[in-house]
Amino acid sequence: MWRRIFSRGDKAFEIPAADSPLFERIDWERLPRHVAIIMDGNGRWAKGQGLLRTAGHTAGVKTLKNILKTAIGLKLDALTVYAFSTENWKRPATEVDFLMGLFSEYLKKELMEMHEDNVRIHFIGRIGELSPGLMRQMHEAEELMQGNTGVKFNVAVNYGGQDELLRAVRSLAREAAEGKVAPEAIDAALIESHLDTAGNLPVDLVIRTSGDERLSNFLLWQSAYAEFYFTPINWPEFTPEDFVTAMIDFAGRDRRFGGLTNQ
Ligand code: FPP
Repeated sequence: MWRRIFSRGDKAFEIPAADSPLFERIDWERLPRHVAIIMDGNGRWAKGQGLLRTAGHTAGVKTLKNILKTAIGLKLDALTVYAFSTENWKRPATEVDFLMGLFSEYLKKELMEMHEDNVRIHFIGRIGELSPGLMRQMHEAEELMQGNTGVKFNVAVNYGGQDELLRAVRSLAREAAEGKVAPEAIDAALIESHLDTAGNLPVDLVIRTSGDERLSNFLLWQSAYAEFYFTPINWPEFTPEDFVTAMIDFAGRDRRFGGLTNQ
């Protein structure tokens, strides 16, 4: 069910279930700018329905589409989602292949709509280790949307936070060895510019569905001062209303960034 509701500034957006009274409670001045999501619980949801785990991932794609639409309507600066970790290769080959197929299918199906929505997609992680076909699709999607100015939609595939930091450190060490950068000149900004998320704001809010309360190697540097929001809801059942509930919860947090006063 799609309803046209938000006209913020110049544009009206269609957001699923946006007629919910919850949307009235949004504090537009206190929305997070960068939200990161650990989309957990696809397997558990599928099991609960008597379905194969893969059916959970398929259902998860629909949720992702709805949440991206909501992020667009809320005019978030960035949405980063954890789609496949460097550890997920340990899963049975059938599930890994299914997930890779799903990413490819998603790109084929959703590419033009995301582009029309002014989304700027970017893939983070060790993309070079994926199949040549999927890699090509990812690069083409990034190229198509590189001039877009709406939500930055970062999809982590074959991603690990420690691995990302390791790659950044290696590349900085290489530059130092080549005399391109002095070790004393290495500061937080320079490290950030070597991360996969270069150009993004720090993460304000990390959402994890399905009850577990851990970061699982996601955006370790970027989440240094993030707020955390955990919900027992499995990802396939996570709705735009649940997302907005997380936004409302975030607006009530007292963020001190190590100081004594808010902001
Ligand atoms: C975690 O649930 C989910 C994943 C490892 C895959 C996430 C992928 C999607 C939501 C598909 C859509 C993504 C894109 C980019 C199209 P789990 O399988 O670990 O669930 P469990 O903990 O209940 O077993």
